Amino acid sequence: MTDPVLIDELKTLVEPGKVLTDAASLEAWGKDWTKHFPPAPSAIVFPKTVDQVQAIVRWANRHKVALVPSGGRTGLSAAAVAANGEVVVSFDYMNRILDFNAFDRTVVCQPGVVTAQLQAFAEEQGLYYPVDFASSGSSQIGGNIGTNAGGIKVIRYGMTRNWVAGLKVVTGAGELLELNKDLIKNATGYDLRQLFIGAEGTLGFVVEATMRLDRAPKNLTAMVLGTPDFDSIMPVLHAFQGKLDLTAFEFFSDKGLAKILGRGDVPAPFATDCPFYALLEFEATTEDVANEALALFEHCVEQGWVLDGVMSQSEQQLRNLWKLREYLSETISHWTPYKNDISVTVAKVPAFLRDIDAIVTAYYPDFEVVWYGHIGDGNLHLNILKPEDMGKDEFFAKCAVVNKQVFETVEKYNGSISAEHGVGMTKRDYLAYSRSAAEIAYMKAVKAVFDPNGIMNPGKIFAPE
Ligand code: MLT
Ligand code: ZN
Repeated sequence: MTDPVLIDELKTLVEPGKVLTDAASLEAWGKDWTKHFPPAPSAIVFPKTVDQVQAIVRWANRHKVALVPSGGRTGLSAAAVAANGEVVVSFDYMNRILDFNAFDRTVVCQPGVVTAQLQAFAEEQGLYYPVDFASSGSSQIGGNIGTNAGGIKVIRYGMTRNWVAGLKVVTGAGELLELNKDLIKNATGYDLRQLFIGAEGTLGFVVEATMRLDRAPKNLTAMVLGTPDFDSIMPVLHAFQGKLDLTAFEFFSDKGLAKILGRGDVPAPFATDCPFYALLEFEATTEDVANEALALFEHCVEQGWVLDGVMSQSEQQLRNLWKLREYLSETISHWTPYKNDISVTVAKVPAFLRDIDAIVTAYYPDFEVVWYGHIGDGNLHLNILKPEDMGKDEFFAKCAVVNKQVFETVEKYNGSISAEHGVGMTKRDYLAYSRSAAEIAYMKAVKAVFDPNGIMNPGKIFAPE
């Protein structure tokens, strides 16, 4: 734990009352949505300015105190968990939109701006911030950048990385850098901005971000299609992608749907029970586009790839269909799921899923397994649900036994052990299944350049040595 004398010194760097050490605050800000590691921070500090962030980082360097960045705390890899007496730096009070440029379609955000706040701001300007996911009501832009957040629209718009025009960061050495100056074209050597995106706060803190906006989509329309087996989802994707510009192509299993319907507040898409469901979305800009989608649906039924389906006819129906997918993560959190977030190239998905499913079924015959994910991006979420009568630690230990087989399969398919949730602490011991030894050595060398004293979120991405 950090010496109380040092915490008193920390208090002089920020506004009065902006360092908390009471048990409830340590518990609340010391963790993200993961439940693997009990939080144990020394203090929570809330800077309000870039100068204060710099002062905190310099203080941490002087006294060799580890810092953990904290945003909306919705992360799923324990990258924002302070489990070892670190000081948590929360960006909750750096939450303003500072500027908007209509010509460049850019918005300058403090790191604590909530994703939904940016989305709403974009809408007020008649524009669109396209990175979206179920936790957008709480997640913050700084955290999204730290994890290069993906979500449900990646098939069309890409990850957070695609929307970052420029960054201001305070490095682990306490220096303020302006990266890329919000330029579209800038061929002046290494793009350090990209290094900080997805770095999970291990190189420094994002203290300002210029985010790009896009034109607003027109008449978004969703379809939910039930398929007789997983393999049928792929030709459906291929058929629709060949004719329509999809804004989403998601999937979930019957077990996932059962959990959603069990809530009692979301209508079933249709009466036919199917083992798997695809949710796709497109802009029905004209009647021809909507008719094309219906023709594709009929073709898929004729081919035997689809058993039943529905297309949204109103905004309300669109929202209800999305609830089937978007509510999954929160709904199954009741069962303390053991989560895997794995990816391969799209063409490999069916064989990959079959192999992983065989491993999981063999090892966990008694556990409930819920599959869902961003199938159009090759990203599968494998969720193993904890039986009600089993302790959390026993359950996680049992699940971890199978990690070796799951990650060996990921490696065999040249995939990723973390597609979008990040490495944090939950996946750090498995990094070598996705990155070569030489690559990891270069990554560590990069960290040492920006964070010479190793104070920035230590123990995340890389296991402690
Ligand atoms: C999702 O796709 O719903 C999110 O990545 C969260 C999750 O996997 O639970
Ligand atoms: Zn996801």
